[in-house]
Amino acid sequence: MPLIKENHSLKNLNTFGIDVNAKYFVEAHHVEDLQAIFESPIVKEQAVLILGGGSNMLFTKDYEGLIVRMNILGIEVEQQDTEVWVTAGAGEVWNNLVSYCVEHGFAGIENLTLIPGTVGASPIQNIGAYGVEIKDVFASCEAFETATGLVRTFSPEECGFGYRESVFKNELKGKYIITSVTYKLSTKPNLKTHYGAINAELERRNIQQPSISDISEVVAAIRVSKLPDPKTIGNAGSFFKNPIITKAQFDSLFQKFPEVAHYPAPNNKVKLAAGWLIEQCGFKGVVDGQTGTWKNQALVLVNHGHATGDEVYRFSEKIIDTVQHKFAVNLEREVNIF
Ligand code: EPU
Repeated sequence: MPLIKENHSLKNLNTFGIDVNAKYFVEAHHVEDLQAIFESPIVKEQAVLILGGGSNMLFTKDYEGLIVRMNILGIEVEQQDTEVWVTAGAGEVWNNLVSYCVEHGFAGIENLTLIPGTVGASPIQNIGAYGVEIKDVFASCEAFETATGLVRTFSPEECGFGYRESVFKNELKGKYIITSVTYKLSTKPNLKTHYGAINAELERRNIQQPSISDISEVVAAIRVSKLPDPKTIGNAGSFFKNPIITKAQFDSLFQKFPEVAHYPAPNNKVKLAAGWLIEQCGFKGVVDGQTGTWKNQALVLVNHGHATGDEVYRFSEKIIDTVQHKFAVNLEREVNIF
């Protein structure tokens, strides 16, 4: 049974850098650790929260329960001709896996370079960037069922992937803990360079026939130029989702704001750029006490050093209300609030 610590600081375990404690804290290095933890009496009495890289959460207060930090490591590869199945432990740092795959010439996740967080979190919110989402390369995952202690395999269909969505955030929330993920990659790259910023950066570098490591480098450069590094400025990436609205709603918005940034979405819907809506409300680069929005990306809320989670949350309410008032569009938080 791994050691359960009391009053453990979470400051270095959430990328917002919010200074809160967990009442109880334990690390799981193996599936057997999860089995032991979930059989222990403490779990019956306490709320339980599974923590990966802490890159998509905002703690507004101390966590009055047990935090289980996933630290299951390991990368295994199976190759058949050009097809490669890479299985990684849930606790592996996502970007380390990306670097490993790029170095070995395994294509498919290079566009997801530098996304903070861990492997285990990648299917939960179907992480995505620059034209690629996890669902495009997801083969399967193994997950520990908290009620039974059994490990089950999930196929892509069973995960119910959507835009920043999966069953693990919805119907099965709190019921399973992802222990490993298998991605189907290829040694024959099928590069996705259609995202405007990638194309522009490739052109600027005069790269006509990019390799996967070129793409990975270009994506890293774009991210670094737009997004704050959580090591120096606390943040959790995009704080809100890009809203998806009906065509009718879009038409009336477009009449008033013909310059509104938008993209087609499935089922005849329209996706709006939340960053644009927030910027138009005058929030880009705003400093509000110890919090604010990032100067190069209004969708990212930051901690200027000593913000409390509550302060960041209240600032996010202000943004939601202002956007609602100006555009009649509801912004939903992408970040999990605790
Ligand atoms: N925009 C503005 N002002 C801003 C920010 C954005 O006007 O301050 C407009 C521009 O029109 C820009 C457009 O929004 O062209 C899109 O901006 P960007 O390319 O930065 O992407 P995003 O839609 O803001 C999404 C993801 C990011 C992902 C990027 C790149 C969500 C919620 N966010 O952001 O994911 O890196 O696309 O693919 O879908 C994350 O989820 O944490 C995250 C960083």
